[in-house]
Amino acid sequence: MADKKRVFSGIQPSGRLHIGNYVGAMRNMISLQEDYYCIYGIVDYHAMTVRFDPKEMEKSIVDCAVDYMAAGIDPERSVLMVQSTVSEHSELAWILNTITPISWLLRVPTFKEKRQQNPDNVNMGLLDYPVLMAADIIVYKAEVVPVGDDQLPHLELTREIVRRFNSAFGHVFPEPEAKLGEVARILGLDGVSKMSKSLDNCIYLDESKDEMWKKLSTAVTDVRRKRRTDPGKPEDCNLFTMHKAFSKKEEVDYCARECSTAGIGCLDCKKILLENMYGELEPIQKKQRELRSDKEYVYDVLKQGQRKAKDIAIKTMDDVYGKIGISSFH
Ligand code: TRP
Repeated sequence: MADKKRVFSGIQPSGRLHIGNYVGAMRNMISLQEDYYCIYGIVDYHAMTVRFDPKEMEKSIVDCAVDYMAAGIDPERSVLMVQSTVSEHSELAWILNTITPISWLLRVPTFKEKRQQNPDNVNMGLLDYPVLMAADIIVYKAEVVPVGDDQLPHLELTREIVRRFNSAFGHVFPEPEAKLGEVARILGLDGVSKMSKSLDNCIYLDESKDEMWKKLSTAVTDVRRKRRTDPGKPEDCNLFTMHKAFSKKEEVDYCARECSTAGIGCLDCKKILLENMYGELEPIQKKQRELRSDKEYVYDVLKQGQRKAKDIAIKTMDDVYGKIGISSFH
């Protein structure tokens, strides 16, 4: 562990996961476990920047832990923890706040969006969200951050904050880099907007094969392909992006060729996709059911995660206290 570079990513405990989440960040979170020491935080403090129901919070966190473990986060190799249980995250965020100009935060696209969506709840936490995110990452001196492309502006801000800290106080933190999924963003079933729960256009990870087929069979493909005999343009088809995410290269090539020559119709193409998509998700669903019936184990993993994460975070904070001149008191 000691010599491995570190990875951090934050997970919003916000309910059911869809294949966009899975392909965007989760797969990388899983595969990075091979070569890095990975720390994954369920970011409850971030979740509190929008209105939430305290009665649901604990369940959301546990569900989230279950989903990520089912998908392949391995608590033997990696750390799975709850953000608020390692208080160093928010402590470091405070220090970073003092070197972050407000103007940087006002420019962040997600802040602008959320401020429009919830005009009656534009709280400080919403504005400060990226600073806490920066602290999440650098409190472990993480160098790689698997995320979806919507998080890139936040990562850029983290790097700017790191540069500013290092040049103001002396070198403590590496500049972390984002690691994006291999497949460009999967759009929703409508083929236009991004896949998102609030738009109700998702395929969820825990969907049954029948449900999945209902959604796939009616999902929008290349809109210009009106009849079975029209040749299609795979590059204009969201289903083709899904193929690239779930099917083997030969099948991707086959579908591209047969679509563009009208050799197969959209339904044929979707049937192949269904087999591959469900094939990958079925074992995850099985593991989900197992973990849901062993909650004690899940709580235990999070407790151990807290311990392991705290050990690292404390060391970083020692460096920080030294650089900012308060180490004698700690
Ligand atoms: N902002 C991320 C999201 O909405 C969650 C997050 C919080 C995060 N802290 C992080 C992601 C640190 C990567 C690194 O999905």
